[in-house]
Formats: sequence, C-alpha cells, structure tokens
Amino acid sequence: MLSSLFRRQRTPRERPARDRRTCAAHLTELAEKAENRAKKTQHDKGKMTARERLEMLADPGTFREINRFLGGDIDEEYLGSGVITGFCQIGGRPVAVYAQDFSVRGGSLGQVEGQKMIHLIKQAVDLGMPIISLLDSGGARIQEGVAALAQYGKVFQATSLASGVVPQISVILGPCAGGAVYGPALTDFVVMTKRSSFMFVTGPEVVKAVTGEVVTSDELGGAQMHSAVTGVSHYLAEDEADALDFTRTLLSYLPANSKEAPPTFAYQTNQADLENAARVGELVPVSPKQSYDMVEVITSLVDHGEFLEIQELFAPSVITGFGAFCGQSVGIVANQSLVDAGTLDVNASEKAARFVQFCNAFSFPVVTLVDVPGYRPGTEQERAGIIRRGAKVITAYATATVPLITVIVRKAYGGAYIVMGSKAMGADFNFAWPGAQIAVMGSEGAVNIVYRKELAQAKADGKDLAEARKRLEETYATQAVSPNLSLEIGELDGLITPEQTRDTICQALAATRNKQRRPNAWAHAANPP
Ligand code: HXC
Repeated sequence: MLSSLFRRQRTPRERPARDRRTCAAHLTELAEKAENRAKKTQHDKGKMTARERLEMLADPGTFREINRFLGGDIDEEYLGSGVITGFCQIGGRPVAVYAQDFSVRGGSLGQVEGQKMIHLIKQAVDLGMPIISLLDSGGARIQEGVAALAQYGKVFQATSLASGVVPQISVILGPCAGGAVYGPALTDFVVMTKRSSFMFVTGPEVVKAVTGEVVTSDELGGAQMHSAVTGVSHYLAEDEADALDFTRTLLSYLPANSKEAPPTFAYQTNQADLENAARVGELVPVSPKQSYDMVEVITSLVDHGEFLEIQELFAPSVITGFGAFCGQSVGIVANQSLVDAGTLDVNASEKAARFVQFCNAFSFPVVTLVDVPGYRPGTEQERAGIIRRGAKVITAYATATVPLITVIVRKAYGGAYIVMGSKAMGADFNFAWPGAQIAVMGSEGAVNIVYRKELAQAKADGKDLAEARKRLEETYATQAVSPNLSLEIGELDGLITPEQTRDTICQALAATRNKQRRPNAWAHAANPP
C-alpha cells in the first residue's frame, strides 16, 4: 500500500537506448520543460525559480550541479528532485550550495532530497568550504512518511556536525514549514525576505485544524516577526535579490572553514578614515543621561566606514556585526545607547553570546565597545531567565580564545561591565576613554544602599533630603565611579583619548596576530585563580 505512494524508478536496463546526441537533446528538452513549470509555479507567486536564484547567487557561469539524477528520474516528468545541489564560486571562492525547488512537490524533503543534501554537506566539510542553502519547502514529504522524517534527522545531524567547521548560511525564500525550519535554525546565519518568506513548525492550516486558531502566515512566521521578535532571522531583506546580495557580502567577511583565518583586505590609510576617527569623540555626549547612536561610533572607527550589522532588528540594545581595522576583519560587539541605554536583557545576552561564539569558532578577533548601565533589572527579566540566559555571555567571552580587545567609551557598570570582554574575563587589551564611569553600580542606586543610614539621619534631622542625596551621590561618584581603581589593579591597560581609539585597536590587533589559542587559560596562567 505504502509502496504505491512512491514513484517507481526505472533501472538503466529498462530505459530506451539512445545515442549520445539524442540523449543530450532529450535531457535538454526535459530540463527546459521542468524549468518552464518551475517558472510558472514561482513567478506567479512573485518568486524566482531555484535555478534563477542559484544563477543570481553565484559568480556568473560558475554553478556546477551534482547528482541531478540521484534516485533515478531521468525520464520522468520532474527531471530531478525537490532540491538542486552543487558547487559554485562566490567572490572567486568555492562554496557548496543547495536550493530547494518548490515546483517539485512543494520543495518537500523525501529520501532522495535528504540523500543529496547530506552528501553535499559532508563533501563541503571534507573540502573545507562554506555551505549556503536556499530554502523554499513544505517540510517532510508527507507521502514518504517516516522515511522522510528519518532523512530530516540525518540532515540535522550533518548540519550540526558541520557547525563550527564551515560557515553555514540559510536563505529563506518561500514558505518553510516543519523540518524545513530546524535545518536553518542549526546554521550560523538566517536571511529572510519581506513578504514571501515564512518559517513555522506547522503551517496556518494545521494550526487551525489542531488548535482552532486562525492566523495568517505572516503572523505565524513572517520575516519581520522572525527578524525583530524571535531573532531566528539575522537579516530582513527587501526581496530575493537583496537577500542574495547580503549573503554574498556576508560571505566576503567569512573564512572558508575553521582552520583558515578570516579574509584580510588590502588597506591604504585614507583621509576620510583619519578624519572620522579623529571626530569620534564628538559623537558621544559626556552626560551619561544623553543617548547617541553607537552605530555611528562604529562606522567612524572601522575601515571605510563599512560595518555589516547582524540581527539589527533583534535585541537592538546590543549591536553585533563585522567590520575591518587596517584590513583585518573583526567581529564587533557594542552597546546601543539609543535603546534602553544599552542594557543587557535576555535577548541581547543571547545575541551577543552567539555572535562571540561564532567569532571564536572562525578565528575573528572580537572588538567590544562598552557603554552599559548593567543587566536590565525587574521581574519581567528575572522571570524570562536573565540568570540562565545572561550567563551565556559569560561563557562566550570566558571561553573565547581569539584576540579580545575592549574599549569602554562611557559607562561600565556592574555585572554587565565585567561580562562584556573585561580583563577579568580574559581579554587581551582593555582601554577606556577618560571620564569613563566604571563601578559596581551607578550613584543613584548605590547611595540608597551604602548611605542608607546617612539618608535616614538627614530625614530625622529635617534636612533637605534631595540636597543630602545629591551631596552623597557626588561623594560616591568622586570616590567610586572612575577608571582609577581599574588602572591601579590592572583591569585596564590604559586610558586613551577618543581620537586614539582606531589606532589603538589597530595596534592591539597587530599585537595579538599570533596569539596562541589555548583552550584553557588556566593551563598557562602563572597564578591560576
Ligand atoms: C508533500 C507537499 C508538502 C509536503 C506542500 N506540498 N507541502 N507535498 N509533502 N510536506 C505540495 C502540495 O501538495 C502542492 O502539490 C505543492 O506542494 C504546493 O503546495 P501548496 O499548498 O499549493 O502551496 P502554498 O499554498 O504556497 O502553501 C505552501 C505551504 C503548504 C504553506 C508549505 O503547502 C503547507 O502548509 N504544507 C504543509 C506544511 C507542513 O505542515 N509541513 C510539516 C510536515 S512535517 P500540488 O501537487 O498540489 O502542486 C515535518 C516534520 C519534520 O516537516 C520534523 C523534524 C523535526
């Protein structure tokens, strides 16, 4: 009964004999037929076909398909399966790619599709090249039952084993349901397009049938939602062309595999970069109560002002992305003063942690720009698991063996200061701008605790409470909120003026170029804690 659901595959012996030319012409004719059908399915929905996407992604004329006829199908209607696999060049570098073909049974994954994807992933790992997947799929092929589910298990295993070995980027270009969403979730970066891409474990129809909830695809798993709310998506593209363009740009920052260093760029000092670096101090107001755009600070410091932000819309109180200093690619983590004053919350913690772990896996030095008032306080955050999820930032920095360079540009308070690439967490070079406020907590909170008795006395004496509080805050600020103690105990390597920041980072990167990446700092520490 079940076997009747599978399409019969003919053995070579059964196929009609043809000469080479007839055979080639026949295949071309079938390929055209299949592509025309794909165009009809996809163009009507405002989407490109899998082959058109591959052409747009790859350097012109470099895509070479493999295993088109794996599992048979040469003379069949579909000519191939629901996924196209192969290799291409992007920016002149080899990349493994697979693209799901929605025109073949909704791009669903059956035995053959799984076999092709697993083969490609394994080969990419063996050959040390990044993997890009273009997804557009209804998930496990319902007709193939548990055999399709088993293939998903194997795809997940292959993707997980490739994680940290070669970079993996998933581009979602249509509906992705069921198993089709977990594959991308296991990769390093997910790109989604506005309007046409969706990710959900079960589609709206199934949701309605099971729970009675009526919901649109957009509400359930649209690109905006996954980019701003869940953080599943790392980039919200305008359309397919933008998604593929972003993918090419992202790839240009990444090494081919974990044994290679990230690409370096030829860099010539130029007037614009010098001027921007000289003016960076003007961007940060001295008053800690005034906010500013940290992205502008970053773009004033990096080569050519080029910063590729990752997960811009998700947990925006922390900024993550790639840039270069004097030609050296780095990962950048920074607090965004414009959003909740740059506090760390559950999502920001996980965002920063995951990014630092990616940088560590692929040898990116991490430059951290700190201006943080602390972890965000309150019941909402405690209940959301700020202890468990906030701890991820600690693990990421504490176990990172890549060069870590940190600059405190203004505030650095409490736990958030210490976890964001502090010297105590293993950073190689730590600097602060003059006037940096480094302390366990800000004056307002601290006075309530350490001067509680003095405040009570002032109240009992009928003194002006606001005046007494102001005086005590000033005393605390002078005594405890400055970089002095950090300099005295060696938590800072020095104070630098804002204008010196870019040069200092470039020098620190040069000094750490041959850093010996020992997995356990205790192994070589003179005085283990
Ligand atoms: C087989 C499928 C399919 C599937 C779609 N098709 N999904 N065939 N298995 N999983 C087929 C349709 O029958 C149809 O075939 C064609 O693909 C196009 O589908 P449409 O529904 O016409 O397209 P559209 O309206 O754009 O809707 C796309 C969709 C919807 C949202 C993806 O098809 C859908 O909801 N599919 C099921 C999604 C789902 O719940 N998947 C979970 C599978 S379980 P014809 O011949 O009519 O053109 C799973 C578990 C893995 O994946 C768990 C691992 C942990």
